[in-house]
Amino acid sequence: MEVVICKTKEEASRKAADMIAALVKKNPKCVLGLATGSTPVPMYSALAKDVKAKKISFKQVKSWNLDEYYGLPGTHDQSYRYFMNANLFDKIDIKKANTHVLNGLAKDWKKECKAYEAQIKKAGGIDLQVLGIGSDGHIAFNEPGSSLASRTRLVSLTDQTIKDNARFFKKAADVPKFALSMGVGTICEAKKVILLAFGKNKSDAVKAAVEGGVSQFCTASALQMHQDAWFFCDEEAASKLKLKKYYAWRAEGELSRQ
Ligand code: PGA
Repeated sequence: MEVVICKTKEEASRKAADMIAALVKKNPKCVLGLATGSTPVPMYSALAKDVKAKKISFKQVKSWNLDEYYGLPGTHDQSYRYFMNANLFDKIDIKKANTHVLNGLAKDWKKECKAYEAQIKKAGGIDLQVLGIGSDGHIAFNEPGSSLASRTRLVSLTDQTIKDNARFFKKAADVPKFALSMGVGTICEAKKVILLAFGKNKSDAVKAAVEGGVSQFCTASALQMHQDAWFFCDEEAASKLKLKKYYAWRAEGELSRQ
């Protein structure tokens, strides 16, 4: 696991975007795993700038998103399909047909989740997966207590996540209580993983994920078992790490070798 610590979230987002841009240049048909939430927004803006400047093209890229609220249609302004269109897909040259988000209205959620996993497999697996981290250490909607071997499925959200996400809805009662989410096992199969964490609110989660034990209590800690996982943090999110100076120095060398 490499931890890149930057002064600001803008700098960390640019570095993470550079890693994605390098992959897209090297493999224009790559498969991306994408995330929603407020965290990846500056990184998506940086990628949109690169497309506008004709530095990269997503014309042949395929994407699968991590999760979707269960019960929300893709047209709902808080659905993750809507978010992806507004924050990335409408701003780059990706073909919409190549973008995949779980269907939050699927009646047979088991069938939906199984088909989603099968699609990813058929595409050759995810080359690079983008992640945020919840204040409770979750990745996608794999809340504390999720099996580290879990697959795409229907999950129940914790009170903490509902509270954290209430800022996007009119009131907390409007936040869906369930979601469809890739599992920790699904995520860990990606060839490369980039996790972004910004702000003081994420410092405990980052500490537990990087320096705590591997535990289903902090599902991001499963990335300690991944061979090519990168955390891009601002100074606040990294503030509780014991070895932050060492990580920063080591990551610099690793980044230059990428
Ligand atoms: P945030 O959410 O980016 O809105 O903080 C992250 C997450 O819950 O994974």
